[in-house]
Amino acid sequence: MKRLNIAAGNWKMNKNYEEGVDLAKAITAHEVKDSHTMVILGTPFIHLKTAVEVAKANPNVKIAAQNCHQLTKGAYTGETSVDMIRSVGAEFVILGHSERRAYFAENNELLAQKVNTVLAADLRPIFCCGEALEIREAGTHIEFVAQQLKESLFHLDGAAFAKVVIAYEPIWAIGTGVTASPTQAQEMHNEIRQLISDKYGADIANATSILYGGSVKPANAKEIFGQQDVDGGLVGGASLKANDFIQIIDSF
Ligand code: PGA
Repeated sequence: MKRLNIAAGNWKMNKNYEEGVDLAKAITAHEVKDSHTMVILGTPFIHLKTAVEVAKANPNVKIAAQNCHQLTKGAYTGETSVDMIRSVGAEFVILGHSERRAYFAENNELLAQKVNTVLAADLRPIFCCGEALEIREAGTHIEFVAQQLKESLFHLDGAAFAKVVIAYEPIWAIGTGVTASPTQAQEMHNEIRQLISDKYGADIANATSILYGGSVKPANAKEIFGQQDVDGGLVGGASLKANDFIQIIDSF
């Protein structure tokens, strides 16, 4: 089975309501040329419902939340549950982004709980992993990412794991303009696929989409997406401009 290519936008905390509607409309109006490509818009909660409605016009476009609470309901002021996300028609939830890990104290154990909650709600996690610069310089980046996967995902059975999308995002490349070289990305993606294969077998490993994130832009998307084990990107800054993101979508 040919695994899906995915161009996922992560809007982070950007775009007011009107701006978000305009951006979702502009992306959705673009006809995706490769039928094996899925476009995902990771929007703030405020935009989710409208983004789902806008995306109905294009079967290739799906909507993701950027976070959720690990519990399903209750007295957690300011939080958003998987049931709420599901009820507006979003299909994915980005989990474990390095900004959530750094600024909101999300660790591997909490993320394992969130992964379970997302899957139990019939949503699909886009699970982010990736190392800081010190770890890469120390040469332990592969072990570090392996630990993230083991502690947050590898308790799943094969059927559940098959619903997960992985995003490898080296922290030193996020929002910095520095991109991992295609060789660095390929090396890590290959290691990740090998770990999945060791745990779940080659069929599941070969069907898992592994995205690269960190300063993906129109100028570098083609080369990065061209690597054998890179199945697309999780794109921050360049997903906020319709024309840039559309060029990235067309880079497969
Ligand atoms: P960037 O962000 O493309 O702006 O580097 C990527 C991400 O954080 O998902």
